[in-house]
Amino acid sequence: MDLYRLPRRAIPTRYDLRLEPDLTSFTFTGDETVTVTVQEPTTEIVLNAAELEIMEAMIDNGGGLTHRGMFELNEATERCRLTFPAALTAGTWKLRLSFRGKLNDKLRGFYRSSYKDQAGATQVLAATQFEATDARRAFPCWDEPDFKAVFSTTLAIDPALTAVSNTAVRSERLEGGKKIVQFGDTIRMSTYLVAFIVGTIEATKPVAVGRTPLRIWCVPGKSRLAKFGLEIGAISLRFFEDYYGLPYPGDKLDLLAIPDFASGAMENLGAITFRESALLVDEQAATHAELERIADVVAHENAHMWFGDLVTMSWWNGLWLNEAFATFMEMLAVDAWKPEWQRWTTFGVSRAAALSVDGLHSTRPIEFPVSAPREADAMFDVLTYEKGASVLRMLEQHLGPDVFRDGVRDYLRAHAYGNADTGDLWVSLGRAAKQPVPEVMDGWIFRPGYPLISVSLDGPALVIEQQRFTYLPGSADAKGRETDVKQRWQVPLQIKITAKGKATTRRLLLGEKGTQIQVPTDFESVLVNEGGSGFYRVRYTQDLLERLVQLVPDGLVPIERFNLLNDAWAATTAGLMPITEYLDLTARFRADRDKNVWAILIESFHFLHRIIAPPDRPALEAFVRDRIGPLVTELGWTPKSGENNLIRQLRGDLLRALGTIGNDRSARTRAAELYQASRQTPTPIDPNVLPALIAILAHSGDAARYNEFWERFRSAGTPQEERRYLYSLAAFQPVELLQQTLARTINGEIRTQDAPFIVRLLLMNVSGRELAWNFVKANWETMDRLYPKNGLRRMCEGVIGLATPELERDVQEFFTSQKIDLGGKTLDQYLEQLHIAVTLRERASGSLSKYVRKFLTS
Ligand code: BES
Ligand code: ZN
Repeated sequence: MDLYRLPRRAIPTRYDLRLEPDLTSFTFTGDETVTVTVQEPTTEIVLNAAELEIMEAMIDNGGGLTHRGMFELNEATERCRLTFPAALTAGTWKLRLSFRGKLNDKLRGFYRSSYKDQAGATQVLAATQFEATDARRAFPCWDEPDFKAVFSTTLAIDPALTAVSNTAVRSERLEGGKKIVQFGDTIRMSTYLVAFIVGTIEATKPVAVGRTPLRIWCVPGKSRLAKFGLEIGAISLRFFEDYYGLPYPGDKLDLLAIPDFASGAMENLGAITFRESALLVDEQAATHAELERIADVVAHENAHMWFGDLVTMSWWNGLWLNEAFATFMEMLAVDAWKPEWQRWTTFGVSRAAALSVDGLHSTRPIEFPVSAPREADAMFDVLTYEKGASVLRMLEQHLGPDVFRDGVRDYLRAHAYGNADTGDLWVSLGRAAKQPVPEVMDGWIFRPGYPLISVSLDGPALVIEQQRFTYLPGSADAKGRETDVKQRWQVPLQIKITAKGKATTRRLLLGEKGTQIQVPTDFESVLVNEGGSGFYRVRYTQDLLERLVQLVPDGLVPIERFNLLNDAWAATTAGLMPITEYLDLTARFRADRDKNVWAILIESFHFLHRIIAPPDRPALEAFVRDRIGPLVTELGWTPKSGENNLIRQLRGDLLRALGTIGNDRSARTRAAELYQASRQTPTPIDPNVLPALIAILAHSGDAARYNEFWERFRSAGTPQEERRYLYSLAAFQPVELLQQTLARTINGEIRTQDAPFIVRLLLMNVSGRELAWNFVKANWETMDRLYPKNGLRRMCEGVIGLATPELERDVQEFFTSQKIDLGGKTLDQYLEQLHIAVTLRERASGSLSKYVRKFLTS
């Protein structure tokens, strides 16, 4: 028997839920009447409950038969077993439970969040976060996604407060000194989508999107930051109704900014919750990346109203059906709204992140067995989201966007108000495409990894072959598990062959055996993965690569240049390309004006910075200046008129890199001057440049600067400003300052929603990484107690930055001796990534040092 799956003898169809939170004692009481269908006679009902005290359980059949239930809670399995004195006959019963619990501070279940109001007094609000398995912490329930039911929620609250839940308020009355707010019935949906929020909160005026009133809620005084979120909220809602061909499945839509929030946002039907920085923004003061983030998150959650909420995966192994789709749809919606943002090009960065993890022996298939809650939590990773969205994009491009959309519509219609599996999606897509989908797609969803496509020229023939890409040789992971390196895929390829200045495109499905293509005699170049939506890497022979590099920048579109460089960098870390060749290649991109191409360059420079021998860091800095300098000179420090957002963002990114990892002295001086000026007169400094100034000044900052930035963090006027100053506290170099930042991650001065990310940054900062690592080891239990549940998992990603053989050994020793499990394969993946970095260090830091030393003198 699976301890984590409930028996199906009794099935809930409706919950009438009443909750009474007390925001001063941080407690709540509740009672519920669950309508259940008993399938076969039984004396026992098992459902989920955790950290709840149950006071009473009664069941009646509406025909005069009532039983009192005995209850037994098992905290380990988070289950409650009710036993009745006589067997319940098959049919409908009403189960009444009363219970109570604590409004916890762990950002899960029914929890409390606090903030300082405009008068400086601390205010508390109560909110919920149930995904994946925490509804059971707020009310006893069948807490699995396929136990869908209708929810009717009533909240009894202090009359001065406001309550929001999934549906519109049906009635409101005063009773016994309380305000009783009753909400309408929800659609049939999963428990993890239920939500209620109580506090002093204010809303924008509703915007009507078709029949749906859309509002943004936030703590008092912040609704001035709601305009942008409201705009993309309305636009994306309309976009999805159109794309899905189905109306929004709720009666209203509220977007709520919660001061303490574990993830970015949560798709509760009709009551989507966000961390403040993912919803509220001052459009005039934000960078392009910050605006893009908000558009992404809002569109993503809105996409879930259908994908996830209306149709839900049957179990957590199929999480990708929720998250990959929402991520894919988010791109479609944002791209349709602002084509000039080139959202699919920037998606390359996400795809690259997925390719990195999926190139590990410790990767996993997108769909992966899940049993315990912590395994469900571990599914929220780059493979579910970014690999999942990438393969959907690849399939969409392969089938054609209209066919794909028709398949999606078919799927949503067929499974509305219910649950579905990957196989159901294939059926719908196959119906629309009039071709079988599993043959092509199963390899991408049910098996780990992806192919490296190699391309060579053999006389007049292009030889195209595939093999699995992994960074490390061998076929076993750290724990000795075999990796199937013989794995092959059905790969949708789009190939561009140029001859005599004329390009032709070939599309084909590459099978196990590879293929050969004849090329004309006056062949010039071949590009595999034209358009860039394939989820694979390409390896060219040196000659073929050189022909492509000749085309940089204008002969290839940005995503193609991005992939070329990204694959070269991956080949370098995998030992397939000498580091010197990669370093040479970076010179060919000096004039590139795509911010994503530069993201790869800059990321690889950071990587090198973490592995180069410390005495050679100044030489590496000189090398970085050599690569970045020319474009910075060209772009300057202030925007030119008519420049688009992407170039503005690029300017910010380049300046930041020049002044930090390039350690450029004049950039530092300039940054200090500009920053100073921006504080005195309201000089219009480009919002994309300002965060770069902050980062540069932190990088070279002293205690006075540190204290200044700390104060700016505390008095920030927008979530974005707050975040910039907060993150800058991890970017200083003097250890005594980093020590202060570390202390603040566990002493309550930094919110626990942010602290894990700060520690992660510190672990990646070469000036502070050892300090941070020692701090983590010494304070592990405290962090485990304080941080939200995914906190340690997020934080520990930083260990990848501890890229020396000594630190690697220590990291391994710690995790093994402490028997730490971060859920799923997470820890194995971090350790393997660390090992890849250390391996590259041992293999290449000699030639790296030699290479960059030339830049010191010149
Ligand atoms: N369903 C998730 C929220 C979530 C994440 C719940 C992890 C439980 C565990 C939500 O739809 C989501 O994906 N949020 C993302 C932001 C999104 C734009 C990628 C997040 O929180 O990072
Ligand atoms: Zn999501």
